[in-house]
Parts: sequence; structure tokens; C-alpha cells
Amino acid sequence: ADLRELNTLAVAARARHLIRITGVDELIAALAWAEGRELDTLILGGGSNLVFAGDFDGVVLHMQIRGRYWEKVNGDDAVLVLGAGENWHEAVLYAARSGYRGIENLALIPGTAGAAPVQNIGAYGVELGDSLVSVTALDRNTQSVVTLTASECQFGYRDSLFKRHPRRYIILEVRLKLSRSQPLKLDYRDLRDYLGDTDASSLTPLEVAEAVMAVRHRKLPDPAVLPNAGSFFKNPVITQAAFDRLQERFPDVVFYPVGQGVKLAAAWLIDQAGWKGFRNTRVGIHNRQALVLINHSGGSGAEVLALADQVRRSVLETFGVELEMEPGVVGAR
Ligand code: EPU
Repeated sequence: ADLRELNTLAVAARARHLIRITGVDELIAALAWAEGRELDTLILGGGSNLVFAGDFDGVVLHMQIRGRYWEKVNGDDAVLVLGAGENWHEAVLYAARSGYRGIENLALIPGTAGAAPVQNIGAYGVELGDSLVSVTALDRNTQSVVTLTASECQFGYRDSLFKRHPRRYIILEVRLKLSRSQPLKLDYRDLRDYLGDTDASSLTPLEVAEAVMAVRHRKLPDPAVLPNAGSFFKNPVITQAAFDRLQERFPDVVFYPVGQGVKLAAAWLIDQAGWKGFRNTRVGIHNRQALVLINHSGGSGAEVLALADQVRRSVLETFGVELEMEPGVVGAR
């Protein structure tokens, strides 16, 4: 099966088998089938956070479990339940249009609801983990369906239990706690600048989602036009001591205070190292956000990864800071 249309970087790759999964019984049967043939499996959602380094010699399970409903509606609060295969952005708009707050800052993030907890998607001052109540998943160790609470998911910055144990759980459903009255989060600089002197108390969650969409459109490329996988590196967290030394050499370094240490804007590091807008024959760096790699014209996963490695080495040489890749790498290198 051809995987090019199933990854937002539009990298050409093939899988030995591809199975569409629309329910848990189908999933269990597909896993048993793969195991019987000693084939490796890959759980695929929207394909927006991975790089196919080569072909995948196994079974791709394309998660398309649908479903979207409200549970426990109680006064201003409600729980929104989403099947793993639901489109994330559509779910955000649905919640916002219904007047519920909590995920409007996460508008326009590509991918599925089931993939969202894996990397704990986050943008404009909000992370999925802030509103997630629980995840229903298939535990492959015990072959049973389990419910994991938010704390059991061990969310961190672009991190979770699922990211640390990628082969154990397959997410089936997510539950989000939303509210009609909780405060909107409008502190992130780009969002604040966009909203200008708009009276924050008069804003609806849909208006915030629309503002986020406008801000993203300005900087982040639409994968349908310029194939990409969003931020290609995490924003690195370094110790306070290392930061002090760095800031002495580079007083303009862009950073965010975090609990332990200092988080640097990887985009700034890459930009300053001279990569913004760089393009070789087929792959390059976005000209409005240096953290985004673009597959301009049919580049392979290997070409994308080679450019990422060049960028990583250059940032290490210039700033002594190690960048960690954000998307996962799949398939033979
Ligand atoms: N900057 C540059 N050059 C650039 C772009 C940015 O110098 O080309 C500097 C600017 O000073 C800017 C700062 O870097 O203020 C931060 O940039 P931005 O606000 O665009 O955010 P980011 O830290 O680069 C993170 C997430 C994004 C998310 C935005 C908004 C990561 C790895 N990325 O990017 O997430 O949309 O914040 O919250 O944490 C993604 O994960 O795929 C993603 C797009």
C-alpha cells in the first residue's frame, strides 16, 4: 500500500499491508492477524507527526474509529468524548461552536483525536493534558480495554506515557473536560498581538479559535500546500547555568521560563544559525517559521532526515545546544 497520502510530509513510502480500523474488535483481529504472520505493526492516525524513513515492512493500522458525543453535562461543565479517528481540528470547532471552552487554542493542529495525547499536543499556552479527563485504550500486554486517567498518562511538554511506551497502548477514545465558563487563555504573545485591544471578556471560544487559526495561517504552512510535519524539533530545555552562559554570548536569545531550567525557542536558534528559508533541490526550511521542515517537491524521508541532521549539527556548533526531533521516525533507514 502507498503511504504518501497518509503522511503530511508527503514522503513516498510503502507498507506491506494497510488495514482500516473502525472499531476495537477489528483492531484486536488485525493485531492477531499480524502476530500470526510475525509482522510488525504501526498505529497510524493523521500521519502529521512522523517521518517515513523508508518502506514499512509490516501492517499499518489506520485508526478511523469515529464518534463524538457529550457525557456528564452538568451546569456549565461537560465531558466531550471523541473516537480516536476523529479529526482534531473539527472537534475543536465543534466544541467551540457549542460554546465550550478548553481546547480553542488548539485549533488547526493537524491529526486525529487519538494521536493528540501521545505527544500531548500544545499551542498558544494550552496543552491537551490541561483538559483531558481520561483515555480509553487497548493494552496490548493484557489484550484488555483500559481507562487511564490524566495523571496516569504522565503528560509533560510534548511527552506522555504513550510516547515513552509506544508499543503498549492503542488509544481508542479520549475524554475532555470542557466548560462554558472557565477563563479563556489569551496570554501567548502572538495571540495577544493579534487580538490587540479587543475586550477579552466579550470573546467567545469560537472567536478565540478563529484568532488562533489566523495566527497559525500567518506563520505555519498548510500541509496540503507545503507538505510538513509541524515543528520538527522540540524547544530544548537547558539548565539555568547553561542558559546564563548562553545568554552572555547571545543576549537576544529567545526563551520561556519553565519549572526546571530554561526552555529555548528552537525556531530562534535555527533562524539565527541561518537556516530560515533554506532550500536544497527538494526539501527546505519554512521561510516564516524556522522550526518547520518542508518537503517542496517529492523529497524522500531520508532527504528530510538528512536536512534535519544538518540543522541539528549546525545549531549544536553555533550554540552548543542539542535539538531533539519531535516527529517519530518509522521504516527502514
Ligand atoms: N522565532 C524566530 N524565528 C522564527 C520563528 C520564531 O526567531 O522563524 C522566535 C520568535 O522570537 C518567536 C519564538 O521564536 O517569538 C517562538 O516562536 P513561536 O511563537 O512561533 O513558537 P515556537 O516555540 O516556535 C511552539 C510549538 C508550536 C506551537 C507554537 C505556539 C514546539 C516544538 N512548537 O513553537 O507547535 O504552535 O509554540 O504555541 O513546542 C508543533 O508542535 O508542531 C507546533 C507547531
